Amino acid sequence: MENKSAPVKTVPLVVTGFGNVGRAFFSLLREKREDLKCRYGLALDVLAVAQAEGCFYYGGPLEVRHISRGGEPWTSGNPSWRAGMKAADIIKETRPGGCLVECTLSNLETGEPGLSYITGAFQGGWHAVAASKGALVVGLPDLKARAAENGVFLKFSGATAAALPTLDVGLFSLAGARIEGIQGILNGTTNYILTRMGEGLDYAEALQEAQTKGIAEPDPAQDIGGWDTAGKILLITNACLDAAYALKDVQVCGIAGVSADFVRSARKEGRSVKLLATSAPGRKGGRWSLDVRPSLIDATHPLVHVNGTEKGISFLTDSMGTVTVTGGRSSPRGAAAALLKDIINIYRPPF
Ligand SMILES: NC(=O)c1ccc[n+]([C@@H]2O[C@H](COP(=O)([O-])OP(=O)(O)OC[C@H]3O[C@@H](n4cnc5c(N)ncnc54)[C@H](OP(=O)(O)O)[C@@H]3O)[C@@H](O)[C@H]2O)c1
Repeated sequence: MENKSAPVKTVPLVVTGFGNVGRAFFSLLREKREDLKCRYGLALDVLAVAQAEGCFYYGGPLEVRHISRGGEPWTSGNPSWRAGMKAADIIKETRPGGCLVECTLSNLETGEPGLSYITGAFQGGWHAVAASKGALVVGLPDLKARAAENGVFLKFSGATAAALPTLDVGLFSLAGARIEGIQGILNGTTNYILTRMGEGLDYAEALQEAQTKGIAEPDPAQDIGGWDTAGKILLITNACLDAAYALKDVQVCGIAGVSADFVRSARKEGRSVKLLATSAPGRKGGRWSLDVRPSLIDATHPLVHVNGTEKGISFLTDSMGTVTVTGGRSSPRGAAAALLKDIINIYRPPF
């Protein structure tokens, strides 16, 4: 339905990283342009796309054709390419109130380059939405404080299981309830591999198939080793409990040592082996324990039917019972949709 009551608000965006997610975000913006205007009164204009060596920028809203040719970014001879230009400088020169869209790689040790991009956005009075996890895993409490100091929002649905609404549920739907435990299947690649192992493939075959289908990355170490899942349960726990746990607080065991026989015999018994992320309170209000490990779950577990690339999360609460959400597209498009959702929720009027 057309939003006739409010004029259209133009929001400048700077996108950092133009890989799978950055490109999917562009496609989604193009596809949803009219819908965004009609339903939310928003015109989202990408002012710049930052790469490590410079920015695509010409002073007007960018289209994919300004950035890539044949699907790949082109710089040499491209009038929109500004070597050496920094995202933070563009933000500084633009009025406050825009939004950074962080889609660079997730470095869980340094947080870079996302950390510098996000802090640069805050300094310029811009909001930030992130699909990358690195900056948040390394410094979420500090980033939240900086966002508050600058009166801007930091949202990161895209970094916490993409289209599966983990933070929306934990932060909004469970308002007033006390979270007493969290369990999640938060990584589509490992869930796909374990599902296929249950169906008869051995580990190497399942991994190979996932890579051939583009589900697993050529270097799947972060997924297989459980670190991607660890980053997500850490972020979800810290955000929902307003806590400050660090990655070193998460006990992590990946799926490389899981035997196909174990997965298949579990399946025959109606049970399932999942890479489960668990966040549980310590005794007498002590520190929570966070862990990621392959776990045998029985037929009554709320996540037992989460198969293939699907993900799921289950919150145990004091007053709302157990609340479980499953599904959500697990792909660059799903991550791009989560970024877009966060942007809409920053700018649309409260309801
Ligand atoms: N793919 C998914 O389904 C998915 C889902 C949810 C979240 N995520 C997260 O979203 C992020 C992006 O994922 P992706 O699949 O798009 O990864 P990707 O294809 O590897 O893209 C990352 C991009 O970041 C660029 N980059 C590296 N250093 C940079 C810098 N200093 N400044 C600007 N750009 C820089 C890379 O450029 P070069 O190639 O030139 O180095 C690359 O284009 C990751 O953090 C990932 O964990 C991904």
